[in-house]
Amino acid sequence: MSTSAANEYVQSIIKSFEIDAPLLKRLTSKYIESMENGLSHSSGGKSHLPMIPTFITSLPNGTEKTDILACDLGGTSFRCLYIKLQGNSKFTTEMKKWEIPSDYLAEEGRDLPENAFFDYLANKIVNFVQYHNSNDENQELLTTKKNFNLGFTFSYPVEQTALNAGNLIRWTKGFEITSVVGKDIVELLQKSIDSKLSSVPEEKYPFTISCVALCNDTTGTLLSGAYTSTYDSQDIVDPIMSIICGTGFNIAYMEDLKSCTKLTAEQMEFISSKSVTEMCINTESGSFDNELSVLPVTPYDKIVDEESTNPGYHLFEKRISGMFLGEILRLVIVDLIDKQFLLEPKPSKKQYRHKFSLKTEVLSHIEIDDSKDLKQTELYLIESLGLRTTTEQRHFLQQITRAISRRSAYLVSVAISAIIIKSGRLDPKSPKYKYHQELEVCCDGSVVQYYPGFKSMIRHGLSLGSLGHEGERRVHISMALDGSGLGAGLAALTASK
Ligand code: BGC
Repeated sequence: MSTSAANEYVQSIIKSFEIDAPLLKRLTSKYIESMENGLSHSSGGKSHLPMIPTFITSLPNGTEKTDILACDLGGTSFRCLYIKLQGNSKFTTEMKKWEIPSDYLAEEGRDLPENAFFDYLANKIVNFVQYHNSNDENQELLTTKKNFNLGFTFSYPVEQTALNAGNLIRWTKGFEITSVVGKDIVELLQKSIDSKLSSVPEEKYPFTISCVALCNDTTGTLLSGAYTSTYDSQDIVDPIMSIICGTGFNIAYMEDLKSCTKLTAEQMEFISSKSVTEMCINTESGSFDNELSVLPVTPYDKIVDEESTNPGYHLFEKRISGMFLGEILRLVIVDLIDKQFLLEPKPSKKQYRHKFSLKTEVLSHIEIDDSKDLKQTELYLIESLGLRTTTEQRHFLQQITRAISRRSAYLVSVAISAIIIKSGRLDPKSPKYKYHQELEVCCDGSVVQYYPGFKSMIRHGLSLGSLGHEGERRVHISMALDGSGLGAGLAALTASK
């Protein structure tokens, strides 16, 4: 390829990742429409957002004071936590964490029976409680059989039918255990816990465990954001939604109960009897525009989707989250090698052809490399892909990296803008409008937390898109403290309300 042809080709790649103001606005309108349809239709379809009712109908205010048990299944790890809420927005945790063995992940786990993975989780939970129990200072109180209420963060799309019941719609982020799809997650976990507890004499485990709340990580983040930010706060903040942007991507927010028209008459009657007016909705935002009616599509997005474990689904997530940003850049690099713009690495170093071999963390270093001749980038590319580059090529790759991350952040801004607009918080005619209020967006996840400049790029997207500058300046983006752990505990607490 001649230099000018190469130049042109790279510029066309960068252009393909661009999202301008009109597209931001079109995406936002489509997102609002997709939310509205999702609130009135079942969660499984492709043409609208899943908008899953969580049966969480109020947020904590920071004064809650109690001890709670929680566990959290993330993309690659499992944690058990014993949380002490101190009643002043503060808390302490005792925690154990395990990496999920590869036997349960991707193809290796595909054909496992439905109980296998839950037996593994139950084993960890029971041993954790046993460990906590035997170390508890109040031993004498625990001589009678004690029940631990458990909140379970399960960060995959689940059709929730009650606070403690929900069927898995599909796996995302690397799990594939087919026998679990369509099954009630709480029932499976509870069965495995009970069977573990009954397999040994009662003296060994003098307790029972009841899984009382199933909670998505975004729901947990909203609960944790509300608990940690409200007590004693000098600012007028209002946690309006929570975002996870790490391995996966998703958003939860509080919706008017009367808009959740897909709730059954029975569910509505039960909830209304508690005199509440709102419910937390797990939007499963990763699934926005699976029909690709407005979302931009590059050739690299198509390959990412084809090689993923859930092709055709979570297409928004595949343009945003940490699991995929590295893969998008790797596919661009493969294309540039195939077009002979980049030099093919020596055969012994062919890792550049391995799916998902480029971690998003590498992009975060390239993004802000200001070393002479981009020497840092040079080292990262050699180390991660065996790729040798010239200074000029590295400058191109940096521009492409920035285009990929900017697109991701702008797409996040679309979802934030849509939820704020739909909520009426910026509309002076709406009862939800409060002049002096900041709209707090509680975040968690490695991309939003660690990717350099990500939060600023979101803000830029907010101001360029439908919120405009006036709306953007009302938004306060904060990091939540352990949304999935603390949040699961707080969800368990709502079970007794
Ligand atoms: C899952 C969501 C989860 C998000 C963030 C997505 O892949 O579908 O349920 O909240 O990842 O972890």
